[in-house]
Amino acid sequence: METVWSQHFSQSIQNVTSSIIRDLLHLTQRPSVISFGGGLPAPECFPVEDIQAATEQILIEDPLVALQYGPTEGYQPLRELIAVHMQNLGAFVSAEQIQITTGSQQALDLLGRLMIDPEAPVLVEDPTYLGALQAWRTHNPRFITVPVDEEGLDVAYLERLLADGVRPRFLYVMSSFQNPTGVTMSLARRQTLIEVISRYHLPVIEDDPYGELYFSGQRATPLAALDVAYNGTLRHVAYLSSFSKLLSPGMRVGWVAAPPELLGKLAHLKQGIDLHTSSLSQATVYVACRDGLLERHVPTIRDIYRRRRDVMMQTLAQTMPAGVRWTEPDGGMFVWLTLPRYFDTTALLRTALDYDVAFVPGTCFYANSGGDNTLRLNFSQPSPDQIREGIGRLGKMMQALVRDKAA
Ligand SMILES: Cc1ncc(COP(=O)(O)O)c(C=O)c1O
Repeated sequence: METVWSQHFSQSIQNVTSSIIRDLLHLTQRPSVISFGGGLPAPECFPVEDIQAATEQILIEDPLVALQYGPTEGYQPLRELIAVHMQNLGAFVSAEQIQITTGSQQALDLLGRLMIDPEAPVLVEDPTYLGALQAWRTHNPRFITVPVDEEGLDVAYLERLLADGVRPRFLYVMSSFQNPTGVTMSLARRQTLIEVISRYHLPVIEDDPYGELYFSGQRATPLAALDVAYNGTLRHVAYLSSFSKLLSPGMRVGWVAAPPELLGKLAHLKQGIDLHTSSLSQATVYVACRDGLLERHVPTIRDIYRRRRDVMMQTLAQTMPAGVRWTEPDGGMFVWLTLPRYFDTTALLRTALDYDVAFVPGTCFYANSGGDNTLRLNFSQPSPDQIREGIGRLGKMMQALVRDKAA
């Protein structure tokens, strides 16, 4: 008799299912399709030669460390460099408070393992990052959602939940250029949030991979820095970020800056998963950053993405029918569209694929349900010409659908 593997799967994996959306997104990989569906950096932005030089350099400088097993907490020079970066943002943490992770996705996974029990309440933005939902659904939490508007997380709503006695394990929030909406929390909201979480002793996971990718003004102050300013030390916020959007996601190097209480447990959990993040990747990132690559390179990414955002904004304004609204992100990689209520964007994706254009239906970013008439567009990966052409196709499709509806 044959082994039926599925009969041997754990209970928790039953919560992990494939979705229609994932199947549809598979079709977006046809070469004729202009896809706004991915969440990928522009490949033209990869600093290939600098990474090559940094890899060569580390193999000269520190080859035996770069090629050997390393400590679970991370490559010490990189931890020190990140601690200085955090200090420059106003979040005074020591290198010992930095846990290197295999992308910030791993940090989300580790924190889920550390903090979620079945049915435990967990607060997430509505909508939120799909990858966090994916990482945490296996633990079967009870997601409670907090709305997001043009100023970011609705802190007054959160406060009402807490005042009503909701006691979540944590709140997960993307403070800058949120995925999927592109929205950034205002400074006033950030300050109120810190006051509220300090009063209720609510742990916050701040996920900030896009904070450096601002298109105007200054970098927003992370919640982690405001926590330090308000409480004298990093007390309520575990801060996540990553080199994925600044250098290369293929390196798989991210980090958590955490209050001391979390650190031993995070390292213990990580040790059981991958022992440590690739020594060669960490050491290469370290050398590249030590030698000034971020200062040279990140302004170029901002310029390229700003231009793409502008082209997307212009083309949306020229082509979309009345009744369609969109966010105007001042950084990051995503724009969020809200269509008239009668649209179902999952069904719409099928039609869009006939026009050889793709997006992500908004509903998959909602922890519970909702967002059927919303969708996410990525502007970092397609070229300006592809954005013009692809948004033009979407606009034509939408105009036709709205006309049919009115007829
Ligand atoms: C909000 C957010 N968090 C985490 C990640 C994971 O990034 P990485 O694991 O590459 O650092 C992403 C990737 O798109 C993201 O958008």
